[in-house]
Amino acid sequence: MSKVYVFDHPLIQHKVALMRKTETSVKDFRDLAREVAMLMGFEATRHLELEEVEIETPICKTTVNMLKGEDIAIVPILRAGLGFVDGMLELVPNAKVGHIGLYRDPETHEPVEYYCKLPKDIEKREIFVVDPMLATGGSAVAAVDFIKRRGGKKITFMCLIAAPEGIEVLQKAHPDVDIYVAAKDECLNENAYIVPGLGDAGDRLYGTK
Ligand code: PRP
Ligand code: URA
Repeated sequence: MSKVYVFDHPLIQHKVALMRKTETSVKDFRDLAREVAMLMGFEATRHLELEEVEIETPICKTTVNMLKGEDIAIVPILRAGLGFVDGMLELVPNAKVGHIGLYRDPETHEPVEYYCKLPKDIEKREIFVVDPMLATGGSAVAAVDFIKRRGGKKITFMCLIAAPEGIEVLQKAHPDVDIYVAAKDECLNENAYIVPGLGDAGDRLYGTK
């Protein structure tokens, strides 16, 4: 079974609290998403492999640890996942970025696919799927399904807020995918929104409401 990491770092908790507030502006929400992604990414990349490399400092030759290759892919689930990309790219600037377009049908809450473009060599890459919300889990499961169908193997899922239901569904469907969440909330409401949550993440990032 996959591992679930819930962050207890005070900076992350504070920033997520600000993002939840109704009065937080679109600009502040976007800035906070980038900052939280960076803070979470720092921990979510802990398992990346290092290799020993010989270098020369101004003083002498030495052996140092560097990331093994540059084989990382960040895959946001559109739209709201885009809010996490810049923060992750600040940490791993050479990562490639794939995109998966999904929206939830307002009636059924089932994910509907409209776009998928991944790096060609996705099968070799360490993949970080990012999306601020894990609600029913339908979108996350569908996104990981797409990536696996195209050969992706080493996949980590990162989100801001998760409902217990979504975590369970994702773990059941993809027991090999570890999950990093900044906050685990109480439940879903009758419209499959996370409670207390932060509302519609896409609308809050882009001011569409
Ligand atoms: C939101 C969110 C996730 C999905 C989570 O996207 O960004 O992708 O809902 O819900 P689920 O776990 O129940 O599938 P939405 O469908 O609102 O699309 P948007 O990002 O384009 O607004
Ligand atoms: N998608 C969102 O943007 N928010 C939720 O609470 C659930 C799904």
